Amino acid sequence: ASVPVPAADDSFQQELRQANAEMIRENYAQALRSFNTLIQYYADEPLAHLARAHFLERLAERERSNQRLLEAIDSYKRYLAFGELVASDGEFLSAGERCIEHLRFMGYHHQTVAIHELLIERLPADPRLRNQLSFTHLTANNMRQVKFVAAETLKLWPADPVAQLHFGLALKQLHGDYVQALSYLQNAIESKADGTQEAYFYLALGETLQRLSRQPEAVEVHRQGVARGFFVSVYQRSLYNEPKLRAQPFWQPSETGYNSQLRKLQHNWISIREEALALLSHRGYFEDETENLRHMGIWQQFELFAKGQLIRKNCQRAPITCSLLKEFPESSGCRRGQVKFSVMQAETHVWPHCGPTNCRLRAHLTLVAPEPERTSLRVAEQERTWREGELIIFDDSFEHEVWHNGTRPRLVLILDMWHPDLTVSQRRSLTAI
Ligand code: LMR
Ligand code: MN
Repeated sequence: ASVPVPAADDSFQQELRQANAEMIRENYAQALRSFNTLIQYYADEPLAHLARAHFLERLAERERSNQRLLEAIDSYKRYLAFGELVASDGEFLSAGERCIEHLRFMGYHHQTVAIHELLIERLPADPRLRNQLSFTHLTANNMRQVKFVAAETLKLWPADPVAQLHFGLALKQLHGDYVQALSYLQNAIESKADGTQEAYFYLALGETLQRLSRQPEAVEVHRQGVARGFFVSVYQRSLYNEPKLRAQPFWQPSETGYNSQLRKLQHNWISIREEALALLSHRGYFEDETENLRHMGIWQQFELFAKGQLIRKNCQRAPITCSLLKEFPESSGCRRGQVKFSVMQAETHVWPHCGPTNCRLRAHLTLVAPEPERTSLRVAEQERTWREGELIIFDDSFEHEVWHNGTRPRLVLILDMWHPDLTVSQRRSLTAI
């Protein structure tokens, strides 16, 4: 009698078990060799690639290695490429979702979108997969794609709250269609459905109400946002916050701890102004504000430092200001802010808005302000105006709004500074914004 030869798939199962056992025993070097051998000998076994992907993502975490993560992604992709040959929808889906998570983390937007599309093709009747795709577009601020995907989803599922939310956000941002946007946003957020309860969505709904002059309802939304822990307070609605920092709308230079640096800049305000005026005479140096904050008018900027980095081309054009700023590293090196010239033409109104973080204070060194009585900066419930050679310091995480009702341009140097209550190690470790 002949000895039964194990079927090929049996030996595959055996070797797979073996490799997994090595992983569980934390014998990583050996496990890596085993998984690599496995996909060589059993290249057409989907599970070989899936198991290797799981192993590599574990290894990536252990070694804190993006290279390993890329290898994991690669294995996921090979697994997903089997398509219909993978029997289980559930396994296919969860592999796709992990792959998407890693691709998002690596910032590979196009590849992320490709995996979303693969999942949608496989499970066309699940609206969540389409919402995940429009969410990926949302995080990449790709609003045209958000609108397109959400519109397609709403054709099939008109009452889907997440699709409504994404569609509403797109209407607001792409077209400034606040009336239409409002009904989508309101409906979605009031549904309290999964995927609709995020700080950013409450911010957008409140902003939409404000832009429709429905202030009491906006305040109510902001109150709900505070109650849910999204906002520090009704007026302070920054989303990237550190706890326990002093918070007040306006600051005096002496309160900041940067008094001498600020005084030195102020002392040089005439040379700074000369430099800024020379730049202004060149067409195309200043760029339009891009955050959709203008209700009407013209408001442009010339950036010198952003996220703590010097912008070389612009600094070469403003050497005096930049060298002064280099002596003030708490400002020029502030990774959660910018230094820039800001020019506002007459008949401009900037909608109420909040900066992204409570980790900075914002100073304006006023360079040109011929009509102080016709301009105004409101921060929370207090208003100030610009006077040449003077400083205004405010915390731009508080809601603020700007009017220029005069006839001639207003020009300021804006410099953000690390919030003085942040420790050295916080300043070092906080992510750039
Ligand atoms: C803002 O930071 O929103 C404004 O104060 C800027 C400006 O130029 O007035
Ligand atoms: Mn602002």
